[in-house]
Amino acid sequence: MPLQLLSLLISLVSALSLSLDTLGQATSLGGYLALVNRDYVLAADYEPDDLVRPNVKATNGSAILMRSEAAAALEELFAAAKDEAGLTLYAASGYRSYGTQSAIFERKIKNTGSREKAQRLVAPPGASEHQLGLAMDLKATPTSNLSASFAKTKQGQWVAENAHRFGFIIRYKEEWTDITGYAYEPWHIRYLGKEHAAIIYEMDIPLETYIAALRAAALSQYLEEE
Ligand code: DAL
Ligand code: ZN
Repeated sequence: MPLQLLSLLISLVSALSLSLDTLGQATSLGGYLALVNRDYVLAADYEPDDLVRPNVKATNGSAILMRSEAAAALEELFAAAKDEAGLTLYAASGYRSYGTQSAIFERKIKNTGSREKAQRLVAPPGASEHQLGLAMDLKATPTSNLSASFAKTKQGQWVAENAHRFGFIIRYKEEWTDITGYAYEPWHIRYLGKEHAAIIYEMDIPLETYIAALRAAALSQYLEEE
C-alpha cells in the first residue's frame, strides 16, 4: 500500500475513533463494513434479522428487502433523485437467500456454458453481498436489463455521483474487477453508512482495499499506543 494512503488512513482511523475492536465489530457479520466476496463467504443459513421492504418504486415482482438502516437510506436516495434531479429509480433486487443465489448462479452457468465465466457475473452462493441485505440492484426503467448501459443513463450518472451522500457505494467499478472478482456493475450499490461511503467515494478505491487499509492503520495506531 502506498505510504501516503496509509498515513491518510491513520488520520482517518483516529478521526473516526476506530480501534481494532470497533473495526472488528464493523467488519464482522452484522456490521455495515462486512466484506463478502469469493474469498469471504457467508454460511448457507445466514439471514439478517432486520430485513424490511423499503418504500420505493420497484420493478415488477422484484424482491427488494434490505436491512432496516439500509432500507431507510435507500428511501432517502430515491427521494433525492426525484427532488433534486427529477429522476425516477427502480429497485430490482435486494436481499437474496443462499438458495436464491444458488439458483441464479446455476442458471448463469447454463447460460454462459462455464462456471468460470458465470462467477465473474454472478456470485456463487455465499459469496454475494445480496445475502447481507445491504445491496440493491437499480434500474432506470421498469423494463430495462441489468447492464453496463445503466452507467450512461441520467439515473446511473446521478447514482454514481450521489449515492455516497446516502451511505452507498458503487461496489463493482470497471477498473476494480481484478480486486473485487466481479465484472463491472454500475447498477449494484452497497450500503456502508455515510462516513465510510463518503471516504471510499473520495479515495476511489474498492471496499477490499479500503478495509485492508483501515486494518493496517488501526493496527499501526494500536502498536504506537502500546
Ligand atoms: N452480481 C453480484 C456479483 C452478485 O451476484 O452478488
Ligand atoms: Zn447486485
